[in-house]
Amino acid sequence: MVDSNQHHFSQPMEVFIHRIPKAELHIHIEGALEPELMFELAAKNGCDLPFDSVADIRQAYEFKDLQTFLDIYYQGAEVLLDEDDFYRLTWSYLQKAAEQNVRHTEIFFDPQTHTARGIRFETVVQGIQRALTDGARQLNLSSKLIMCFLRHLSASDAMKTLREALPFRHTIIGVGLDSSEVGFPPEKFRTVFDQARQEGFLTVAHAGEEGPAEYIWQALKVLKASRIDHGIRCVEDAGLVKYLVKKQVPLTVCPLSNVKLGVFDHLSRHNLHQLLELGLCVTVNSDDPAYFDGYIEDNFQALHEHLGIDFQDIYKLTRNAFQASFLVPAEKKKYLKELDGFVSGFGH
Ligand code: HPA
Ligand code: ZN
Repeated sequence: MVDSNQHHFSQPMEVFIHRIPKAELHIHIEGALEPELMFELAAKNGCDLPFDSVADIRQAYEFKDLQTFLDIYYQGAEVLLDEDDFYRLTWSYLQKAAEQNVRHTEIFFDPQTHTARGIRFETVVQGIQRALTDGARQLNLSSKLIMCFLRHLSASDAMKTLREALPFRHTIIGVGLDSSEVGFPPEKFRTVFDQARQEGFLTVAHAGEEGPAEYIWQALKVLKASRIDHGIRCVEDAGLVKYLVKKQVPLTVCPLSNVKLGVFDHLSRHNLHQLLELGLCVTVNSDDPAYFDGYIEDNFQALHEHLGIDFQDIYKLTRNAFQASFLVPAEKKKYLKELDGFVSGFGH
């Protein structure tokens, strides 16, 4: 994990990556639970952790695929009990993001992971929201909140969760779909997403991470997703690529996640260049930074090191992220101006 206080900037590229104003669109807040905080909350809340130390926890983070990760990720989330726990989790992510010059972030949370353990929906949302409000004031970092349904659970459980979210309509901009992908196609959630859109929520969905290109089609056509989370397997369907390019549907790609979960053997084999060359609206994100060896800046640094992405690519990727955000046009314009100002001034 990179601590920005310990950076030794020897190359302008590192400085450029660090300083460029960024937007993050794919970050699960439960995936930002660092082992140190997990340990501390377990002690505070009297939870049994199957680990003896923080080092022990980090050692357990070797994943074969999405499911082996999810098993550990859901276990980790069990230390989160009261509103303050959710506040601290969110605040620790925001501080890290601000240090890496993230100017705007759109955060996923998984209410069912918590309500299934008897935690109240409002405990989760209020803890997260209070940190987001403080983040805007104290860190000058804007944010949106997106509620994800767990696709390995039933559509009726998702519907129940949607109903619980209605009193928080003003704090949740959209709904998404995450957890185990293969065998749980987006169309299973057609009715819930129809209802969510009627209630005014925007929609996104994880698709084409481990699952086939067909799931991306379903996310677009059935769930009317405004963005596709991951989406890297779109390249297996030329017709789909053509559609995504024409409509400029954003893909929230998470490079270090893809390597940690075995979607690509090594970062040098990631298809990010191919996606960019095809003209897709690609963005770079951290997914679950505490579990995947890095936050957004670490993703960019690793892409530079192993895939040779250059200044132009980084500019394009960060521009795409602000464009693809759920900010209103005037706010997008403000951030794009800040981005362009930074890039034209860099090195002068
Ligand atoms: N995929 C699906 N579900 C998730 C992920 C992911 O990458 N991260 C957290 N939940
Ligand atoms: Zn994800």
